[in-house]
Amino acid sequence: MKILSTAKTLFLLIILTLAMPAQSLDESFVFAVIADPHASQAAKYEVEKYGSHVDRFLHCVKKMEMLDQQDRPDFILICGDIHLWELEKHLDQVSFPLHVIAGNNESGKRRKEMREKFPQDFQVDGQPSDYYSFLHKGVLFIAMCDASMKDHVGHLASEDIIPSGQCEWLERELSRPEKEKILFAHIPPHPNGLDSTMFLSRNDSRFFNDLIFKTQPMAMFFGHQHLPTRECMFGVTRSFIVRSCAWNFESAPIGFLLVRVHEKGMDVREIILGE
Ligand SMILES: [Fe+2]
Repeated sequence: MKILSTAKTLFLLIILTLAMPAQSLDESFVFAVIADPHASQAAKYEVEKYGSHVDRFLHCVKKMEMLDQQDRPDFILICGDIHLWELEKHLDQVSFPLHVIAGNNESGKRRKEMREKFPQDFQVDGQPSDYYSFLHKGVLFIAMCDASMKDHVGHLASEDIIPSGQCEWLERELSRPEKEKILFAHIPPHPNGLDSTMFLSRNDSRFFNDLIFKTQPMAMFFGHQHLPTRECMFGVTRSFIVRSCAWNFESAPIGFLLVRVHEKGMDVREIILGE
């Protein structure tokens, strides 16, 4: 009788476990992605229409503030080439929390300034770090640092990226138990692992792409290329190279992304300034 009762309990437990939905996130939310604000650089394109690069960044923020409450982002990710030394003079006009990562325009002492401005983010195991992760409503956001000074080819290891060991850290973060993970960085991997400027180096791309195929994060966001936003797939992972909010080659429009994360996945909407 006792054996039967134990078997019955086990059976019920299995049924209950199977019936429970996989816990992915705490609640639906929106975040924004901005790439390459280049805040200290003089504007060259459509200056009369959009003003300075700082004006353009603040224009994006105003667009976010004008959204209905349920569409407003919880925070903004900025994918490098920020020029924080200039942008920080205007951050009193930004009502959203920021999470930033360095681009190839931020190096050496500029990275130190970024770490000091966002000390809650830029740390690993309690130590200052150019790469970091944070949790938001059950989703793990992974900020990867892959840019070095004066090099448009990306690297995962460099004397300009502290501490050493980012590849092992990435393997660890992408294997964490949180079901949903979103990665952001400045320089995108080459989808085919080729040797090409404006992408991660050949061997870093191959290591990174293998890791993404194996660990299957939900999405990745990059900047750097100053081209209209493109999406491609790395296995099941959605990957976006996001247009700059300051300037793009061939005078392509400027803008940013709004991303809604929900139980069934992710909806991405592009906002183009001037539309
Ligand atoms: Fe840039």
